[in-house]
Amino acid sequence: MATTPDFATYLHEYAVVSTAKDARWVDVEWSDGQHTRFHHLWLRDNCPCNECVAEITREQTFEILTVPGELAASTVERSRSGDVVVGWPDGHVSVFDAGWLRAHVYDNGSSSVPDNRTATTKRISWDSSSFDAPPTFDGTAVLTNNDSLYEWLTALQTYGCSRVRGLPDDPDVVGALCGRIGMVRHTNFGVLWDVKSEPDPISNANTSLRLPPHTDLPTREYQPGIQFLHCLVNDATGGDSVLLDGLRIVEILRSESEAHFQTLSTVPWNWANRSKTSDYRYASPVIVLDGNGELAEIRVGNWLRAPLVDAPFDRVEAAYEAYRHIFEITYRPELVVQFRLEPGDCMIFDNRRILHARTEFDPNSGNRFLRGCYSEREEVESRLRVLEREKRAAIAHS
Ligand code: OGA
Ligand code: ZN
Ligand code: ZN
Repeated sequence: MATTPDFATYLHEYAVVSTAKDARWVDVEWSDGQHTRFHHLWLRDNCPCNECVAEITREQTFEILTVPGELAASTVERSRSGDVVVGWPDGHVSVFDAGWLRAHVYDNGSSSVPDNRTATTKRISWDSSSFDAPPTFDGTAVLTNNDSLYEWLTALQTYGCSRVRGLPDDPDVVGALCGRIGMVRHTNFGVLWDVKSEPDPISNANTSLRLPPHTDLPTREYQPGIQFLHCLVNDATGGDSVLLDGLRIVEILRSESEAHFQTLSTVPWNWANRSKTSDYRYASPVIVLDGNGELAEIRVGNWLRAPLVDAPFDRVEAAYEAYRHIFEITYRPELVVQFRLEPGDCMIFDNRRILHARTEFDPNSGNRFLRGCYSEREEVESRLRVLEREKRAAIAHS
């Protein structure tokens, strides 16, 4: 097995059958009959040898300008151990592990599923007919068992929401739960923050008011990707939890009005989160698309809006019309999953995809105390990849 330029274990599910080259690329034929092409310069750029990749860090030291742009391989062959060996005109030799090569196929015509794309789990949109409460996992299991952790995080990526039950009655356990994934995102609300009705609140969140469907901190350039809300006490009347899928909301909005979809994904709204000692502001469309036109994030927060000043004057009426439309969609019962957090429950959701809300509660009827923290999508993605790496290593060594 050849050296790979990373820390993963590759299962050799497909063997290299033959190799060929022409002026622009190398063609690799696999045991399942597929042919995949790799450009010469791509192969040279990805040489995993110890001259091209630092042995300990597994990070590249090769620099692209040290070879000509028109570089072509001199020789390509399948080694006896099944690797792909490429010889270059200057005598350099690159040996590609077949498992690594297969996992990094980028030939669009091929039907192989590369496992090294940036996002690996497909998102599934949902509404209130999908479930009564978010996909639920056992607290002890996810805190102690990596297979349970993997199942939980996969569901979180797929549906954007989840619930973990049976957590200890410990105000810091939400930090430990986040620590199973990765870093906590610090904000001006603290590392772990309290949600309870307070006499001198810095946000509507710290009152007993209804919180309409929102994402947290649309007021920041980078909205937190993952949010945790752990329930320690919930014996007041009211204060139910609500989740809605932003992905589904945007699908519906677009099917009902392409014009409103265009407006919401181009005209910036103003967001602000001001206190006596801080003044955070950001302007962004409500719907943010990625380079493929897919939903990157949704930004909604009724009490976090500032006066609309960054929209072009002649788009303001259209902006309000589209904004009313998306808000009207969030009121539709068929989209709302409403449930009650019990002590020991934690809901964990993608704060850039899912809208969350709470119904009003009566602070005189009992106590209500949630503790939360933020993390990022990339922490979940990284943890899932490392868990997948461990699974593959276990298979390879069994
Ligand atoms: C918040 C929030 C939900 C709740 O603090 O931003 O959404 O149930 N809280 O109190
Ligand atoms: Zn090399
Ligand atoms: Zn919130």
